[in-house]
Amino acid sequence: MLRLGVNIDHVATIRNARGSPWPDPLRAALLAEAAGADGITAHLREDRRHISDADIDALMAGLTLPLNFEMAATPEMQAIALRHRPHAVCIVPEKREERTTEGGLDVAGNADALAAYIAPLREAGCRVSLFIGHQPDQIRASARIGAAVVELHTGAYCDLDTEGRHAERDAELDALREGAALAHSLGLEVHAGHGLTFDTVGPIAAIPQIAELNIGHFLISESVFMGLDGAIREMRARMDAARP
Ligand code: PXP
Repeated sequence: MLRLGVNIDHVATIRNARGSPWPDPLRAALLAEAAGADGITAHLREDRRHISDADIDALMAGLTLPLNFEMAATPEMQAIALRHRPHAVCIVPEKREERTTEGGLDVAGNADALAAYIAPLREAGCRVSLFIGHQPDQIRASARIGAAVVELHTGAYCDLDTEGRHAERDAELDALREGAALAHSLGLEVHAGHGLTFDTVGPIAAIPQIAELNIGHFLISESVFMGLDGAIREMRARMDAARP
C-alpha cells in the first residue's frame, strides 16, 4: 500500500509566529497517526525557522510512527541524526534565503562527498533518502552511492498545475513516471513529495513504483477549514482511489 508521511513543519511555523507553546507538533503527529498517517516527517532547518531541536527530542520520545528526519548535509545535522537515530534521514538541499526546498540535491556533482556523508548514517541504521529531481543522472548517482531511498521532487509538477500550464505539467509528470521506473529498476525505494494537494496527488499516487508520499503544507493549510483529521483522511482517500 502507498504510505502517507505527514510533514508537520508548518504546525511549528504557526506556533513560532507567536512564540507560544501551541499548536504542538507532537500533538499534531499523534493526531496524524490516528487519522491514518504511516509516518511523520519533520525538517530541522539550519535556521530553526519552524521545527526546533526540542521538537525533535519530543517526537523521538513520543512518536510510535517512524520519523523521517529531513536535514541538510551539514556536520551539525549529521551529529543530531546520529544522536537520535531516526528511522529515516532525508537529505535535502537547503538555502537560507529560500522560502521552501526549491530544488533537488545535486548527487551526481557531489557523489564522493555525499557517499562519505551518508556512510555513518547508514551504519547507525538510518534509512538514507535523497531528495532529488527526476533527472536520470541524479537517480543513477543516488543508487551508486548507496542510498536506500530517493524522494522525487514534485514541486515543479504542482506549480505548473496551479499555473494552468497543462502541457508542461504533463511533460513533468511523464518525467516523474520515467524517473520512478528507473529508480525502482536500480533497487531504490521511491518516494515523492513537495507541493502536493487534493488536486495534484492523484496522478502521483498512481505511479506504481512510488511507495510513499510526504505531504505537509497543504494538509496543515486545509486543516484550518476541515480539521487536520479530516484533511489527512481526505488525502488518504484520494491516494487510495488513485491506486487500483
Ligand atoms: N518532501 C521533502 C523532501 C520536503 O522538503 C518537503 C517540504 O519540507 C516535503 C516533502 C513536503 O512538501 P509540502 O510541505 O509542500 O507538502
